[in-house]
Amino acid sequence: RIAYVNGAYQRHTDAAVHIEDRGFQFADGVYEVCEIRHGFIVDLTRHLNRLDRSLSEIRIAWPMTRAALVVVIREVLRRNRIRNGLFYIQVTRGAARRDHVFPAEGTPSTLVVTAKRTDASLIARKNAFGIRAITVPENRWDRVDVKTVGLLANVLARQAAKEEGAQEAIFVEPDGTVKEGAATNVWIVDGDGKLRTRHADHGILRGITRTTLMDVAASIGIDIEERAFSVEEMLAAREVFITAATSICFPVVAINGKIIANGHPGSVSQKIREAFFDIAE
Ligand code: PDD
Repeated sequence: RIAYVNGAYQRHTDAAVHIEDRGFQFADGVYEVCEIRHGFIVDLTRHLNRLDRSLSEIRIAWPMTRAALVVVIREVLRRNRIRNGLFYIQVTRGAARRDHVFPAEGTPSTLVVTAKRTDASLIARKNAFGIRAITVPENRWDRVDVKTVGLLANVLARQAAKEEGAQEAIFVEPDGTVKEGAATNVWIVDGDGKLRTRHADHGILRGITRTTLMDVAASIGIDIEERAFSVEEMLAAREVFITAATSICFPVVAINGKIIANGHPGSVSQKIREAFFDIAE
């Protein structure tokens, strides 16, 4: 495997950043994960637009022009011969002697691009049988709309899910409303058959898959309501599913050990998944 690190294509096993990189010391950086399907990058423009927003929100300059970054991404995909997989972009505020305040003007930011193949059979299995989730108290900062690499709360939540035999952890506010998963957005088909997902403010990441899924739902005549729902509503829903660039859309068939509906993946999430790739560009 080959990775891009600060201007050079390197063997993945040898690729490294400096020990004083601010991504390592302060989680002072942002990232994107994007899917490649049949050699085609899904929603590249939207992912780059969000990267631009994340960078500007935390005041990191683009490490190169957007056009140059696209060239690097395509070269990493070519060198790794990826036709179905994911790529990862990380930009940090660079390497400098440890100090909380920003480094001196002109300190180059760090850019890393990696890519890997996805396990198609694992994804097919999750789609066919659904996944299990747990709920966990929201304990992240109040700017999770910025896609930073500061993901410790998400890491601990996912690990807690794994230790309970589940694949996703869903963050819940003290008032009982659902935020999002550790690395996914959460959707329900409620008792009235309406498709619902929480409104996107500073309290969740505005998922690219979430945005494109709204276009998909509209194109096949499914109404969406962007409104918060409670854990009780989620447990009583006809369908629950999660979305992210890594999975597009996985049905959730059990939460905290309670079976959702009849315990099988629902028809709405299946319909949306099938229509997704006709719309995504
Ligand atoms: N995570 N919410 C959170 C907290 C996320 O980390 C992600 C994505 C999403 C879904 O966003 P999108 O549809 O743009 O992938 C929602 C990536 C995939 C990750 O951390 O691996």
